[in-house]
Amino acid sequence: IPVDPFDLVIFGATGDLARRKILPGLFHRFAVGQMPEHARILGAARSDLDRATFRDLVGESLLEFVPQASGQKGLVNRFLEKLDYVRVDVTGTKGWPELAELMRPDVIRAFYLSVSPTLFGAIADNLNEHGIATPDSRIVVEKPFGHDLASAKALNADLLNGFAEHQIYRIDHYLGKETVQNLMALRFANSLWEPLWNSTHVDHVQITVAESLGVEGRGGYYDRSGAMRDMVQNHLMQLLCLTAMEPPSRLHPNAVRDEKVKVIEALEPVEPADIVRGQYRGKGAADGYRDHAGDPDSRTESFVAMKVNIGNWRWAGTPFYLRTGKKLRARASEIVVMFRDPPHMMFPKTEGLRGNALIIRLQPDEGITLRTTIKEPGPGGLRLAEVTLDMTFADALGPHAEAQDAYERLIMDVIRGDQTLFMRGDEVEAAWAWADPIIANWEDARQHPAPYDAGSSGPEDALMLMHRDGRRWREIEA
Ligand code: BG6
Repeated sequence: IPVDPFDLVIFGATGDLARRKILPGLFHRFAVGQMPEHARILGAARSDLDRATFRDLVGESLLEFVPQASGQKGLVNRFLEKLDYVRVDVTGTKGWPELAELMRPDVIRAFYLSVSPTLFGAIADNLNEHGIATPDSRIVVEKPFGHDLASAKALNADLLNGFAEHQIYRIDHYLGKETVQNLMALRFANSLWEPLWNSTHVDHVQITVAESLGVEGRGGYYDRSGAMRDMVQNHLMQLLCLTAMEPPSRLHPNAVRDEKVKVIEALEPVEPADIVRGQYRGKGAADGYRDHAGDPDSRTESFVAMKVNIGNWRWAGTPFYLRTGKKLRARASEIVVMFRDPPHMMFPKTEGLRGNALIIRLQPDEGITLRTTIKEPGPGGLRLAEVTLDMTFADALGPHAEAQDAYERLIMDVIRGDQTLFMRGDEVEAAWAWADPIIANWEDARQHPAPYDAGSSGPEDALMLMHRDGRRWREIEA
């Protein structure tokens, strides 16, 4: 179903994110017929381009980042006809009247700020001063949304100066992923899990986002950020919230976001002894984190594991273990809900049984696995064994006819005016309020992260974090 007609202005339209994600995503939506006849995409950037050159540039990006585009020349050309370009000096006065002139009345207006957060305030002000923003316009911003609580508050203030909260769409691309949304369906469209989803029945939860790539090429940004700011404060926090939150009363943006904020506010401070930071060592020369970061003394973590307690009625006594890192042995993200042992075992003890677990695989190979204990088949007495009920969604449902990238879904939600999958201002601030003291602690201690080998499962200490509690991580497997 096509969305309503819109004018989408992309600030930073010649930048990397626009080329790799935003424009290819829009092209996909166009290709499947979701973009209405009267949709228009306006590139706005500093470069001195005209409309034709901008279209050529976008055409090249599509060929580079959309595998099937080379066989769809006609479609690509029709898409490019929707594009226009304005040269805008975002911190100055040039270009704004021209942009105002181009905007059409009576269509949805959305402004995607694919630029440095330092420019958010200036762009928001200019959009208002030049009468370009209307009370219904949407403004879309990207991470990093702040570096700490103070900077996140400043960004929120910059945006709220000219826009109301219901107009602001803060992207965390994890919320646009199919399986991340599936977490909500799995939890709240089945009656099976909810009665067990609490500390009486769940021993602990593991959330792993493992990446096999390093920080090659973006060491400059990453070294000022580290895994905690780059992944935990946002993506892992969202996964934790969706796993731990109370059932919202309805699928309404604020009903869902209220529940997520409550989880973040219930997080207990994390003790330094419950955190392990790591930094990868290269296999070859000049291939370690410090080489990629360009700083031989860097103390930035490319891996973090921690034990987090949620201080509320549902979860007290059930720790959540989080872990994420670069250059690990595989790219694999999953949530493991580990159930408690049966209260009484009448069977002889069998070594190696790990107990019931629900494993939700987020990427790659989305699906769920339920680990179950059964009788080992055959004669010779009653011995127990483990089997898994395994479902890969692609096998069960067939490959997704209309696979969507996270960005495509999120941009279409912006046009539809649905904020469910976007972070609210108080949510981002709550997440920073939790992360800030953790980061301040290790910055004060000036500790070096523990080294780990590229291609491993992370530092030894991360394994210990669980072993000392009599638990173990699930192996990171492709
Ligand atoms: C980004 C981080 O937000 O998410 C990157 O800045 C990280 O460091 C990426 O690699 C992971 O996203 P995905 O979709 O590949 O899991």
